[in-house]
Amino acid sequence: MFYPDNDYHVRQLTDADLEQVCAIENRAYKLPWSEKIHAQCIESGYPSLVLEQGGEIIGYAIFNYLYDECHLMNIVTDPGFQGLGVASVLISAMYEKAKEAGMIKVILEVRASNRVAIDFYHKQEFVEIGLRKEYYKTADGREDALVMERLL
Ligand SMILES: CC(C)(COP(=O)(O)OP(=O)(O)OC[C@H]1O[C@@H](n2cnc3c(N)ncnc32)[C@H](O)[C@@H]1OP(=O)(O)O)[C@@H](O)C(=O)NCCC(=O)NCCS
Repeated sequence: MFYPDNDYHVRQLTDADLEQVCAIENRAYKLPWSEKIHAQCIESGYPSLVLEQGGEIIGYAIFNYLYDECHLMNIVTDPGFQGLGVASVLISAMYEKAKEAGMIKVILEVRASNRVAIDFYHKQEFVEIGLRKEYYKTADGREDALVMERLL
């Protein structure tokens, strides 16, 4: 069980984390990112974060900086730990890191069907600023992305 006052820590995601991160990704999504995409994000030097408890990764946030914008590309909590505050801790750590790097806002895209994530982002005070039609692949077609923004 994850409790925010328990012994956890947030640190940089490194190439040693690839296997654990991909295992969580595959548990969390019907259409997961491939190992190759995760490896490329690490090789590209993204400032991404993991949250560890008892030596195990239970969540991660993959993001990058472009000019003064932090682009959140993926945030995942291992399904057995969802609803316990893990992503809230991770995204707060990302805000702090991004602010220190001079970023003024966070931008993201989210599947229009992903109600849980959209609720999570609203709770985090993101607002919808756009829609990208048929941006994502689905099992049998395409779906729209909501574009959301939060000032830092
Ligand atoms: C979205 C996700 C990262 C949230 O992670 P989490 O660790 O469960 O989130 P938290 O426990 O910090 O939740 C914080 C808030 O988000 C909302 N939320 C989280 N899970 C929810 C659920 N199942 N239903 C509705 N709202 C939910 C709630 O507002 C919650 O606040 P509350 O606990 O006070 O009600 C997680 O559901 C996940 O990994 N989903 C699969 C991957 C994904 O879709 N990522 C987003 C890609 S854009």
